[in-house]
Amino acid sequence: MKQQLLDAERAADILRATRNDRWYPTFHIAARAGWINDPNGLSYFDGRHHVFFQHNPRSEQWGPMHWGHVSSADMLTWRREPIALAPSIAEDRDGVFSGSAIEGPDGTLLAYYTGHRWRNGVNEDEGNLQVQCMAESRDGVHFEKLGMIVDCPEGLPHFRDPKVFVHEGTGYMIFGASSAGGRGQVWMYTSTDMREWTFDRILFEDPDPDVFMLECPDFFPLGDSWVLLYCPMGLRKRGYDHRNDHTSGYVVGEWAPGREFNQRTDFAMTDFGAEFYAPQTYLTPDGRRVLYAWMGSFTIPAAPQIDGDGWFGQLTVPRELWLDDRLRLRNRPITELDGLRRGGRDLGELRVGTNQTLPLVDDAPTADITLRIDLEASTAERMGIIVHRTAPGRGTYIAYDAQSSRVIVDRRTTGPGNLGYRSYPVEGGELTLRILLDRGSVEVFIGDGEASISSYSFPAEGARGIELLAESGEMHLPGLAIHQLGGIWEDDVL
Ligand code: FRU
Repeated sequence: MKQQLLDAERAADILRATRNDRWYPTFHIAARAGWINDPNGLSYFDGRHHVFFQHNPRSEQWGPMHWGHVSSADMLTWRREPIALAPSIAEDRDGVFSGSAIEGPDGTLLAYYTGHRWRNGVNEDEGNLQVQCMAESRDGVHFEKLGMIVDCPEGLPHFRDPKVFVHEGTGYMIFGASSAGGRGQVWMYTSTDMREWTFDRILFEDPDPDVFMLECPDFFPLGDSWVLLYCPMGLRKRGYDHRNDHTSGYVVGEWAPGREFNQRTDFAMTDFGAEFYAPQTYLTPDGRRVLYAWMGSFTIPAAPQIDGDGWFGQLTVPRELWLDDRLRLRNRPITELDGLRRGGRDLGELRVGTNQTLPLVDDAPTADITLRIDLEASTAERMGIIVHRTAPGRGTYIAYDAQSSRVIVDRRTTGPGNLGYRSYPVEGGELTLRILLDRGSVEVFIGDGEASISSYSFPAEGARGIELLAESGEMHLPGLAIHQLGGIWEDDVL
């Protein structure tokens, strides 16, 4: 594999030399060059947090998949590591697909991934062969491949994305599959040594007959319940729901080793933004369940791809998960991210008059904004904040829409790339929004982690201002704070 890794690094060097940074993230994980999608192999090993990701180092388009890699001692400052896995054996000839990593009983880091092959060597036309494979690392950086560990039964078109965890001394592997009848399923295997794996059961089948595959499943305990996260393929768009071509969601229930999963909630979306897919979680040493997801799209070309910026795809910020008393999954940025704040302003109480704008910052490509709106005292029919504002009427509008009682993230006038808006329903009273703004994205957290809306935001050319807006009525803000943000890369090298 060494030669393949060297070739991949060289290709990334060449692409990096021409990278255009206008939308390149400063505090989100992305490759130094090339394409990324799903987070893979989230783990804590040898005193560091490891984040791997699906990666094509040769272009800003999806292509032969590698595992890119970054690591951090504190989840705040990150080091770029060499590419960890490249296609090199027969089973992963056309791609080292998604998977997970965990420390094994011998103190090595064990990586589990899907080896992907197209039958005809070039595309899906004659189907594929997908099998679960394994690799091992002593230092968490350099891996040795151990080959296939779970073969695919003949004829299944989708069989991928192993997530491995240990529970009560036994190893469990779950992954997504498409049944012979074309239904989306999650399969479960078990192991006593993390190397030999035995089929246990089909843990879950999606009740929706349109759904033919469940990508990137994850399964973990939270409080007294178990959460099954997955990405159903084939789900129909319906009203405000499932608007993305790729949807991530979850169900909550009960489970114990050797038992069926007893589902207790309906499918619900994990995030309500336009770009949020393939989330994966892991447990930090202090017991937090932390999630990263991919912000990107396979179907709608994004501005950095269209313009050939040399990179595409980023992960969300790390988020801590918990369940509320209605078994809804909540998420908020990990508190470590407060450490990125570099100065800032507490603007206190503010009022914006009818049809007025209130400029706050002239040029802020990145920011951490906490905004409180008193919905009872405000009369505006839409009100909120415009970020990445490059000209009057141009920018990404994060607002409360009083007619639909929803928080919206609208990028109709932002700049190049996908348009549209996403939204989430809220109750009256006081609305708190925490907005993490990077050079090409916004993540909006509503209330106390009640919901998140994660979307790209590629501003047009020019200074990127921030301003408040109240439409057809007034807006009352009991509080507003804006902080500048530093970057996450060691030595400030992007
Ligand atoms: C989800 C996914 C996975 C697959 C990987 C390939 O985004 O399609 O199912 O392993 O991406 O890059």
